[in-house]
Amino acid sequence: MSDLSRNHFHAASAAREPVVRFTINGQESSAGAGTSVAAALWAAGRRALRLTTQRGEPRGIFCGMGVCFDCLVEIDGCPNVRACRIAIKEGMRVRTQQGAGSWEEAP
Ligand code: FES
Repeated sequence: MSDLSRNHFHAASAAREPVVRFTINGQESSAGAGTSVAAALWAAGRRALRLTTQRGEPRGIFCGMGVCFDCLVEIDGCPNVRACRIAIKEGMRVRTQQGAGSWEEAP
């Protein structure tokens, strides 16, 4: 597929998709419905989705299919969610994860 036809394909897809709004570390963002959380974060310019427990090194999308666990994030207060395995939803609160992550207490 040429770059021209690839760009045309993405533009056509984007025009049909409903847009969902979500937050990443409290910052508002949006993505096409059905997009994975990992892809939505990538499109928003986020490459580091978590920091490792031992050294605090950044990790991002590696396998993109649920095998490596490098894309762990906190979603709606729940840590250790694989961003590549879940679709972004309206109002979703996504946080980049520090180490093992932490549970958010219910209000
Ligand atoms: S990128 Fe490997 S599990 Fe998500």
